[in-house]
This record gives sequence, C-alpha cells and structure tokens, in this order.
Amino acid sequence: MADGLNQPLESYQDEIYLNGVGGARSILPMNLLALEDLARQRMAAESFDYICGGAGTEDTVRENAAAFRRWRIVPRMLTDVSAASYASTVLGAELAAPILLGPVGVLKIAHPEGEVAVARAAATAGVPMIMSTAASCTIEEVGEANGAGHRWFQLYWPKDRTVAASFLARAKAAGFSVLVLTLDTRLLGYRPRDLDRAYLPFLRGTGNQNYFSDPAFAAELPGPPSEHQDAAILHWVQIFGDASLTWADLPFLRAHWDGRIVLKGIQSVADAERAADAGMDGIVVSNHGGRQVDGGIASLEALPPIAQAVGSRLSVLFDGGIRGGADIVKALALGARAVLIARPYVYALGLAGEAGVVHVLRALRQDFELTMRLAGHATLADLTPDALTRIP
Ligand SMILES: Cc1cc2nc3c(=O)[nH]c(=O)nc-3n(C[C@H](O)[C@H](O)[C@H](O)COP(=O)(O)O)c2cc1C
Repeated sequence: MADGLNQPLESYQDEIYLNGVGGARSILPMNLLALEDLARQRMAAESFDYICGGAGTEDTVRENAAAFRRWRIVPRMLTDVSAASYASTVLGAELAAPILLGPVGVLKIAHPEGEVAVARAAATAGVPMIMSTAASCTIEEVGEANGAGHRWFQLYWPKDRTVAASFLARAKAAGFSVLVLTLDTRLLGYRPRDLDRAYLPFLRGTGNQNYFSDPAFAAELPGPPSEHQDAAILHWVQIFGDASLTWADLPFLRAHWDGRIVLKGIQSVADAERAADAGMDGIVVSNHGGRQVDGGIASLEALPPIAQAVGSRLSVLFDGGIRGGADIVKALALGARAVLIARPYVYALGLAGEAGVVHVLRALRQDFELTMRLAGHATLADLTPDALTRIP
C-alpha cells in the first residue's frame, strides 16, 4: 500500500480485484459518495453534523454538488492512453495526480488521532496535506507525523498580530512550505445544525490546540493554558477572527513568510485579479464547502471565468464538491491546476482512521486516472474546456 500514489499510475483497482480472489474486500466503499451515509450512521451525531453541515439553508452546499451535474464529459476515442501520466508540479509540490488534502479543522471530533492520522496518511499516499490553524493537534505534532511528506499551512489570521507571526514562524520551523490564507472565515458562518445543538467544538477546547501551544498566545494569559482553560478559550474567542482585515494587510504576510502564498476563498474575477495584482502565488477557488455564505454561487460556476482571467498569472486551485474522479476531470478542464478534497477524507477518517484516509486518496486517484484515460486524455495538458459540454 505504501507506494500506491507514488507509482506513475495508481494500481488500487488491480489490487482490490486480486485480493478479492482470496476473499478480501476494501475497507470502505469504493464510491466515495457512500461515505457520507456510512458516517451519518456511525459517527457521533454532533460530529457528523458539524462536518456535513453548511450555512443557512445549505443551498450552496447542494449547489456545489449540482454544478458538477451540469457539466458532462465528452469521451474521445482512439487516442493513445497507454503511457498516460498526470504528474505535475504545483507551487513547488510534485504531484503524481493533481490532488491535495484541503484544510479541515477540529479533526479529533472525527477520530481520536485527528490531524496526526491525516498527516501520516498523506505521507503514505504521497499527497500534500494542508493543515488548518484550527487543528486539534499542534503544528509540531503534524509536522513530525508527516515526516518527509509535503505540507502546507493554512492560516486563520488572528486579530493578534504577535500570535499570527508566531504561527508563521512555527509552521516554517516545522517544515510547512506554502502558506494558504483563508479569506472567507473572518467571521463564523450561520450554521443551523450546530446552532440547534448549541455545539461549537472550540468552546469545549477542541480545535484551539495551535493557540494553546503558542508562546505568544500563552503570554497573554494569567498562566499556562493547561491550568487556565476557561481563560484560554475566552481569549481564543476574542482573537480568532479579524473582520477588519483588508487587501492592505497582505504585506504583513510577505514580511513574515518567505515562501509562496495562496489565498483561499476566492469566488469572483475581481478578487482573483486583486490577488494577482497583490503578487500572490496562487488562489483556491472555494466557498468553504458552502459553510459561510448561504445562497452563494457554486464554486464550480465561479471557476471558468476566474481561470480565464488569472490562470496565466498565478496557480488556480479549486475545491467544493469533489466526490469522484469525474469531478476532478471537470474542474481541471475548466481551468484548475489541482483540486483540494475535504469532506470525503474526513468521513473516512471518522470511519477507519489513517487507513480510511489512504483509501480515499487511492480510490480517488484511481477513479480520476481511469476516467481521464477512458475519456481519451493522456496528460493534463490535453484537458481543455472542449473535453466537456454544458447541459441546460
Ligand atoms: C468540517 C470542516 C472543517 C473545515 N475547516 C476548515 C479550516 O479549518 N480551514 C479552511 O480553510 N477550510 C476549512 N474547511 C473548508 C474546506 O477546506 C473546503 O474548502 C471545503 O470543505 C470544500 O468542500 P467539500 O468538502 O464539500 O468538497 C472546512 C470544511 C469542513 C467540512
């Protein structure tokens, strides 16, 4: 299993059929859509709802998925796909397939090993991990668990600049190579599922581990966070988000981070152009999985005009509703360089821990590569909007 994603092409399907002769079955369903139902049955209800839920009426969550149904792949025949390769380099990361693990916070609500299990799975599968500021394990723990793996750090920019600078220094020291600033969560969205349960894990001390382990944060408390949990949580509430942030604040990041910087949460051409004008290295076209602005456009609808406008100036990544290989093909054809997956790996983590995450990564890559080859595309460069058609 260890070298699955490091092979030129994934061999998970062959392995499963061969092992099946001896009676073995894959540890989780091969259709990743089925993970959500399984997770609903098996996970703690409040954890499942926190992960599955979105903002308001969850219109944008549904729309993220629906947009993929409006674009259809038009397969082409008799092209040579015998020696296909979908390798690429994105923002310094060598990818065997254009897939990354998107940032998801509070993973201990899904599994006791949380982000550390994901970091190990990412290293095993050879897929970059983007670690959340809102993690339930620390930057240092995740860095160590990820070892020689490729890792990026996602920043929720705290109101307190000393803490922000401290996070960046810790991430750099722990081997994180790219900084991903999430723009869409300066405030927490209106999330009825969590409100109905009055459930916010951070107020119960899960998801603030990077803060509690931070020397700059600790210096603002009456004593060590471990001995002053209530004060630590209250201080977290006060500094978590900064609704006053503007484009004018971005130079602070350049001053404190000497690597590449990506802005996550872009949905408009105007903001994508501002990101390029600000000298950013990449953007993630994302609406946070429909968890922030209910009624917002599907992330996939936002992608084509943005890729058209700025794709030659910076790296355009995409997330929102990736559930199978065909979804990846569509996002790439519409201009993304790579995609981030999120909810499916979190369900798999909840269901089967580290091995579940490896399963999702291998299954998704297998499905993607087979769909590419069957649709007639031997390389990523072959893929253009012509590979798709739009239905009304
Ligand atoms: C439970 C959960 C927690 C998340 N936490 C973060 C986070 O800490 N930082 C971040 O930038 N995005 C976060 N996201 C958003 C994801 O990175 C991603 O944009 C989104 O989930 C994509 O939609 P999908 O999972 O439906 O494909 C979170 C998403 C979920 C479902």
